Amino acid sequence: MRFTIAIDGPAAAGKGTISKAVAAHYGFAHLDTGLLYRAVGRKVLDGVEALAAAEALTPEDLSDPTLRTPDVAQAASKVAAIPEVRAALTDFQRAFARRSGGAVLDGRDIGTVICPEAEAKLFVTASAEVRAERRFRELVTGGHDTRFDDVLRDVKERDERDMNRADAPLKPAVDSVLIDTSALSIEDAIAAAIAAIDARKNA
Ligand code: CDP
Repeated sequence: MRFTIAIDGPAAAGKGTISKAVAAHYGFAHLDTGLLYRAVGRKVLDGVEALAAAEALTPEDLSDPTLRTPDVAQAASKVAAIPEVRAALTDFQRAFARRSGGAVLDGRDIGTVICPEAEAKLFVTASAEVRAERRFRELVTGGHDTRFDDVLRDVKERDERDMNRADAPLKPAVDSVLIDTSALSIEDAIAAAIAAIDARKNA
């Protein structure tokens, strides 16, 4: 059985939380594609050339504990604008999307570029302030010393860069279901995602 769920949206929209819950609900595998770009960004900060880093990524690179920091997020968004870097990461994502047993991928271009044939597509968003607030709390809980204003600036800068790049810009696929989580609890956002996917499954 092949069934791909594409979950795209701007920075810190809650894609990760929703994707994990959706994958657990359906028993599907989950790939956080942002981690691929973050791992490349991490290596660039360490002095490696971006394309060389993308071509040599290993599974261990994806578990680097610093990948979630705002510095790495910014570096990720910069390398993500390089077409050759995106191309180097495409085959892996496409193979994951079409694996048997079902797959959930979250990112920016899953429904538009990586897997336009995905059976269900969600575009998860929220206001920049709400997204920055959630990310700020996550970072503080994780022990990072950070300021709300800096997190808000990171979120806005990355959205701007991600939406305006020429290659695979962040935008909803025409056939995606929009979920605005600004006023939703985590439980309600997950329930809305599952309802939208069930509607596609039963169509
Ligand atoms: O968790 P958050 O939403 O803050 O970011 P992420 O999903 O980990 O993605 C980090 C950066 O990687 C984004 O700002 C994008 O520039 C890039 N990215 C991308 O271009 N395409 C994807 N499919 C996933 C991430």
